[in-house]
Amino acid sequence: MKALVLGGGGREHALVRALSLDPGVTSIHCAPGNPGISELAENHVINVTDGLAVTELAARIRAELVVIGPEAPLVAGVADALRERGIPVFGPDKAAAHLEGSKAFAKEVMEAAGVPTARARVCRTAGQVSDALKEFGSPYVVKNDGLASGKGVVVCDDRALAERHARECGRVVIEEFLDGPEVSLFVLSDGVHALPLIPAQDFKRAYDGDQGPNTGGMGAYAPLPWAPTGMVDEVMETVVRPTLREMNRRGKRYQGLLYVGLALTSQGPRVVEFNARFGDPETQVILDRLATPIGAVLQATDTSGLKGIGSLQWKKGAAVTVVVAAENYPGDPVKGDLIGGLDAANAMEGAYVLHAGTAWEGTSAVRSNGGRVLNVVGTGADLRQARERAYQAASLIELRGSFHRTDIAERAVAELA
Ligand code: AMP
Ligand code: GLY
Repeated sequence: MKALVLGGGGREHALVRALSLDPGVTSIHCAPGNPGISELAENHVINVTDGLAVTELAARIRAELVVIGPEAPLVAGVADALRERGIPVFGPDKAAAHLEGSKAFAKEVMEAAGVPTARARVCRTAGQVSDALKEFGSPYVVKNDGLASGKGVVVCDDRALAERHARECGRVVIEEFLDGPEVSLFVLSDGVHALPLIPAQDFKRAYDGDQGPNTGGMGAYAPLPWAPTGMVDEVMETVVRPTLREMNRRGKRYQGLLYVGLALTSQGPRVVEFNARFGDPETQVILDRLATPIGAVLQATDTSGLKGIGSLQWKKGAAVTVVVAAENYPGDPVKGDLIGGLDAANAMEGAYVLHAGTAWEGTSAVRSNGGRVLNVVGTGADLRQARERAYQAASLIELRGSFHRTDIAERAVAELA
């Protein structure tokens, strides 16, 4: 199978790596890719939100599977363009990707499907904002209705800050605060049948102890030794199947990956958010653990269906990823600094580095080119070993001004003892 992956971050590096380990995959292309991906795939420079450009590239390289990484091409309708040309694609059509593209739409679908989630109000005016903040009380949760790369949400006790964020966004969703640990559950869907991946945990705040601003994610680990038994089955039953049914009822068949962000509250799992794509950086640890070759599974979501796939096989052990972020992330990150220590980190047993925001400097050196620069992955027999290796490898990376959280998977490891 010839595969084309769209995107150029750590999630896409993980997808390309998983495809490269699949004996059924004969060649891999990526657009735009990054320096790390170029070691495994041929990179192409195109505008990945342009359906025509993507379809032309896919046809030229005779792609039998196009995997869409980021949300922007999905929301722009790139999957629709590929399907129209009969090219198998992993990712929902534009209409279905609206589940991520609009938080208000996601809430509407959840309500219609009876999916447990936070009570919420869609607000446009200062008066509506003020009423909703009063109704739900603090901590305040204010979400930009549209796409914002994980930075559109403010959770705070400061009412003035909550009001300012609402003013700056225009249309917002204001909702009740959900207490409890967060879990990311990714589900493959062919529109009718759904297959869950193993749950992971992401760390959204920039600094240790869940302090600082929200980010796209600063680290992740899988599996979750503390997850309640039956959690995945419960979420499939109460969230995933009703949502897929409701999307079908609306004529928006949902194929690809449904990202279910959950809070495990005292009243049970509640949906915090839906995304229409693999999460970043959770994918980096989840795919590390996947033993089933990935190519045919992703392709089946658009061709033969998932019913014939059976269940997925997982490797024993655990994986932890630590995001090395550029100075000033998640604000305006400093770019263009040389990165050292990549070879040393990659040479470590049970560790490797995925590129997230990097670019070539000449033909052999690599420089920073984004907010989240690298994902250092550690693997091991258990979470403790995986975590130790991830941090050991991360300590070998040299990037001026960069930072990383030091508490990824810390609590989960402590609870193992
Ligand atoms: P979202 O983009 O909707 O996932 O929000 C980003 C992050 O904000 C989530 O991962 C949570 O950490 C936090 N968050 C969002 N909604 C809520 C909520 N209702 N209660 C508590 N935290 C929330
Ligand atoms: N890690 C969170 C996300 O991908 O949205």
